Amino acid sequence: MTRFLTPAKIGVLALIELYTDAIVPTSSTLPVLSFILNQLIPATAKSYPREADSAQSLPFILDIKSFEVLLAAHPAASGLPGRSLWDHFLKKLWEIDSLDSLHTFFTQRTNLLAKTREDVKKDGDLGIPPPSENMILLSRTSPFGSFVRRSKVEFERLRFSDALALWTAFTRWREQSRTYWTRRNGGLGRWAGDRALGEGEEEWGTDATEMLELVAYGGVSLEDEMDGSVSTDDLEKLLEFQVEQMQKLGNRVPPEVRDKIQSIFGESIMIPSLSHYLNFLDAWRSGDYPTSFDNLHRYFDYTMQNRDRLFYQYALMNLAVLQADFGCFDEALAAMLETVSTARENKDMACLNFALNWLYHFGKAHPDTIRGTDSTNMLGVEREGLAYLRVKAKKTGMWTLWGSSLLSEAKLGMSNGESVATAFENMLRSSQLIVDKNMKTMMGPQLAMYSSMWARLGVSHLSRQYCQIFLSCHARYTLFDDTLRFTCRLAHLLTEKGHYDEALEKLDSLDENSLRSWKANQYWLRYRGVIRLKRDLRRDNLDGANQLLSQLLQFTGTDMDSDLAFEINILHIEYLTRRTDYGAALAKIEQMASVMKQDGDDLNLQVKLLTMKALLQDKCGRPQKGFSVAVRAASIAWRARLVPALWVAMGFIANILTSLFEFQASAQILIAIIPQALEYENCSLNAQLYSFLADACMGMAGQAGVGSTKRKENLTKCLEYIDRAFSEYSSIEDIKGQCEMMAKKATIMKVVGEKILANDYAGAYMDLKKEAALAQA
Ligand SMILES: *[C@@H]1O[C@H](CO)[C@@H](O)[C@H](O)[C@H]1NC(C)=O
Ligand SMILES: *[C@@H]1O[C@H](CO)[C@@H](O)[C@H](O)[C@H]1NC(C)=O
Repeated sequence: MTRFLTPAKIGVLALIELYTDAIVPTSSTLPVLSFILNQLIPATAKSYPREADSAQSLPFILDIKSFEVLLAAHPAASGLPGRSLWDHFLKKLWEIDSLDSLHTFFTQRTNLLAKTREDVKKDGDLGIPPPSENMILLSRTSPFGSFVRRSKVEFERLRFSDALALWTAFTRWREQSRTYWTRRNGGLGRWAGDRALGEGEEEWGTDATEMLELVAYGGVSLEDEMDGSVSTDDLEKLLEFQVEQMQKLGNRVPPEVRDKIQSIFGESIMIPSLSHYLNFLDAWRSGDYPTSFDNLHRYFDYTMQNRDRLFYQYALMNLAVLQADFGCFDEALAAMLETVSTARENKDMACLNFALNWLYHFGKAHPDTIRGTDSTNMLGVEREGLAYLRVKAKKTGMWTLWGSSLLSEAKLGMSNGESVATAFENMLRSSQLIVDKNMKTMMGPQLAMYSSMWARLGVSHLSRQYCQIFLSCHARYTLFDDTLRFTCRLAHLLTEKGHYDEALEKLDSLDENSLRSWKANQYWLRYRGVIRLKRDLRRDNLDGANQLLSQLLQFTGTDMDSDLAFEINILHIEYLTRRTDYGAALAKIEQMASVMKQDGDDLNLQVKLLTMKALLQDKCGRPQKGFSVAVRAASIAWRARLVPALWVAMGFIANILTSLFEFQASAQILIAIIPQALEYENCSLNAQLYSFLADACMGMAGQAGVGSTKRKENLTKCLEYIDRAFSEYSSIEDIKGQCEMMAKKATIMKVVGEKILANDYAGAYMDLKKEAALAQA
């Protein structure tokens, strides 16, 4: 394997010459030049390719077909009429008809370059006129110029055997165009493109020449077509591209690509050290701790030798992130602290800031681990820490870190229930920064923030809209994790409306290759489980729910995403409530609340626990006992502007009023909040509020005199609300709720004296029960 030169690169050199010969007409300049540039410029320097398809359809190792596709469509600007650029290009290729002319080809490359001042002077002394003004010459430092120069130098450095290998690889490479070329030139002989054999035939005769060909070219076997067509340079490019893709998208290497890379490595003696890094990333994603650990060590063992210890902190940082990912938090923390001190020593601000940012988030997620060390002092109190990071990031021009610290500040304010306006201000600032610096990768966290902000403010459709915007516009450029989170959030919103199948479909439509990575896969599996669990709970399929729960609950340990763990715990409480095991449910709530107090967690979660408690009291038939809890929940929710939670809490307060015979007050509260609560599009909340309102109306009807219009009107209202509650319960397939509403309706009819209707409703109730029993079986 050569270091740099391949037949494809000779093709590109010929193409550059074509361009400098001014054969390329003006109209075709752009495609030709961008084709060449695409080959020369490293992938990292390119901005996101707009014309993604055209760039991607080129094979990694250019074959002659790619040149044909590019050139055949364009007529040449000069020369014989009817000839395309492809003909001119082939002429250049086939003119290289021996190893000697390959040497000449490379020597002549200097003619494409602009002369240095000394050269011009020397030429002047010898009486050679300077090149004319309108010739196209490449500046020596331009991408084209440096490519041409490097190719020349690389060729001169080749050992004879390597040059020979390049020549044979080249003949094999252009072989495909032979038929076209010989036909186009009026039937060239058998030895076209090989002068030595062509001239020798006259002397030696056909048989001897063919024998010689066999000896020289090894029978041009087509099986090892790849042989000699890849250089180490190409390999490194390929690896860099892969690593970048993996870091950008958080994927694993697709199996086909991995096989291909391995087959190329099979030929090479030298394996670039970057391949260890690639293996490290892949093993990490696949959840293979020992292998990833091994490869990380190997990579840094190799690189550390040549570039002394300047990059040592990055090795440590990678190690820390890896350890944390596999749940070794203490080791991870130690490694990251080491990173911080090494980065300080080496004055690497970027790394230092990144490490501090990581420590901040790590501390948020694992307060227990970080409490053990005195590392909290490093960032001071949380808020000052963030402000410090923000200022530092701004000073050192680390835009991503700056943006993310702004978002973290917004998030901190939001979960502490501080001013919504301040949170929006921070989000707006980071939004401006993202647009300013075109940081597409930050779009995920930014939109996630907006989405959850609107969810907290109770405007469901805006929250959904942000998710959809992300998925349709930005998902291509960011980590797969973001895509996964947004998809899950959409699925969650669908579940709240009872569209379970659609929600599951959404999850199933995610990219299969990306789901091969272990963490993403785990999250995905659990989320699917959560949706199915919700459906089972509502359908009153408690045995199914129990099975799912017993699996999901195993994952609520430390290595789990804390939001998802909370959700699973809440569902567990709901399950216990439905099983009417109120004692266990209450115990679980208390236990969750005690854990939460220590951590100073998100207010939203606290309010949720409080309302769960109020609900339990209501279920036990002692709603008044939940009064203080409900009022506390309502006041916290109000202060923190947790709008949906506020409606839930107010609903419970109204219910308590009903139980105290304050029907009018109860109805007033409910009528005031229901229109706004509907915006949240949470069917079970709506159903609950309507059913409370129906109870209040029923109470008012009871207070009105027998036979009065007031009683009649209130009863009609009551029936209407029951119907609404019933339809909300139906849309989420909540059997228990449906039964309850039917029973209420039947009772009312009986009271009113409508015996037949009462019987009908009672029948409907029995049917529902039967249906539920069938679903269980
Ligand atoms: C929807 O409302 C129910 C009933 O109040 C509540 O338990 C649940 O958490 C709400 N869902 C969301 C996503 O807020
Ligand atoms: C229901 O009854 C209450 C008092 O008993 C009365 O104030 C109210 O107007 C009635 N509602 C309707 C819709 O008639």
